[in-house]
Amino acid sequence: MSERVTVMLSEEEVDKRIQEIGEQISRDYEGKQVHLVCVLKGGSFFMCELAKRISVPVSLDFMSVSSYGSETKSSGVVRIVKDLDEPLKGKDVVVVEDIVDSGRTLSYLLEMLRDRGPKSLRLCTLLDKPDRRVVDVHVDYTGFQIPDEFVVGYGLDYNQKYRNLPYIGVVKLNEE
Ligand code: IMP
Ligand code: MG
Repeated sequence: MSERVTVMLSEEEVDKRIQEIGEQISRDYEGKQVHLVCVLKGGSFFMCELAKRISVPVSLDFMSVSSYGSETKSSGVVRIVKDLDEPLKGKDVVVVEDIVDSGRTLSYLLEMLRDRGPKSLRLCTLLDKPDRRVVDVHVDYTGFQIPDEFVVGYGLDYNQKYRNLPYIGVVKLNEE
């Protein structure tokens, strides 16, 4: 089985929206420092682009989690593969994710991070698939709400491929 990728959101559309979110965050955190927490690997492309467009002081940290489950469906049981380097206590934290799908990974992760005592904790996601939600997650900043299709690019992968695409594409499988 091979696959092809069609464009859902162009590079220009994505860049424009990230600029808007950067401006919004800069307004919301005026006079403060924002601590961006990137969820690897998917959130990395979005976080770098977003960070460049935030005008208040920014610090960054990274974590990697793996949710047990199949390639296209998460179970909600999250294992920390790489933890943050810095404590969150007293910080204004924004978690930066590629996509909220069922919400299982994020609801687990946010609860865990909240226990570390940040001053505030918000969630920023490039993409949201509201139709797929199983667990309620409050998203503070959303790039785009998209229909229930498997997407790649801008950090999102299909079998570890396509993360480097500068746009959001949809994977179509070619039956052979
Ligand atoms: P959730 O726990 O179901 O919300 O799953 C979130 C994770 O599943 C994301 O961080 C992605 O890694 C992955 N995921 C969900 N939908 C897609 C998709 O359309 N393309 C690529 N990865 C996805
Ligand atoms: Mg992710």
